[in-house]
Amino acid sequence: MESMRLDRFLKEQGIATRSELRKIIRKGRVKVDGEVCTDPGHHVDPGINQVTFDDTPIHHSKYVYLMMNKPKGVLTATSDRYARTVLDLLPDKYRLMKVFPAGRLDKDTEGLLLITNNGTLAHNLLSPKKRVPKLYEAQLDRYPGESAITAFKEGVVINSEFTTLPADLRFISMEPVIAQVEIYEGKFHQVKRMFKAVGAEVVSLKRLKMGQLALDEMLKPGEYRELTEEEKALIGAE
Ligand code: URA
Repeated sequence: MESMRLDRFLKEQGIATRSELRKIIRKGRVKVDGEVCTDPGHHVDPGINQVTFDDTPIHHSKYVYLMMNKPKGVLTATSDRYARTVLDLLPDKYRLMKVFPAGRLDKDTEGLLLITNNGTLAHNLLSPKKRVPKLYEAQLDRYPGESAITAFKEGVVINSEFTTLPADLRFISMEPVIAQVEIYEGKFHQVKRMFKAVGAEVVSLKRLKMGQLALDEMLKPGEYRELTEEEKALIGAE
């Protein structure tokens, strides 16, 4: 890895803002290879040098990947003047690392949301061309019939605007009516509009999976955690 300024190294790990870091470094709270370093512009190589902050080792990684169980009532956005966003649920550390949600869930949708600062990976997960399946569970107001399965398989025409890519639909309960659907794209209100096209309203919607990455059911709505190494590998993350 290429070398970088000490203040940048620490900022990328979400320790503090650049101006706060300059003060922290000048106060002697940061060591490089065991020696106090008071120069914020000192160059370190993340692959070689050992950096500590208040004697806690700081490991450098360029990207961060969070899994959130998005709660209902919160916007999938980085900021909003009036409404609470998913980033408001995170500590400053991650905002300093410039994370954003990879893909959008409606305000009233809950479930798996990946939050990262790796734009290329986010693009790869979301591009319909890459055909990464997203699995949703929907409670419906009524059973739209077996024909919905074929309709989803063939692609549903939505508001005579576009035909969706083929989607896999299965019903897992009848009282209440609960369906699971796997789609390969993420158009605005896509799942709700697909069910509407076959005559059913979505009462509640939850995303369970993106590709092989499954929502950790231990996470309560609003909770998040960093992905494990195994989970990172599942989505092709570094
Ligand atoms: N489809 C929808 O209709 N809403 C979502 O939040 C996600 C997919």
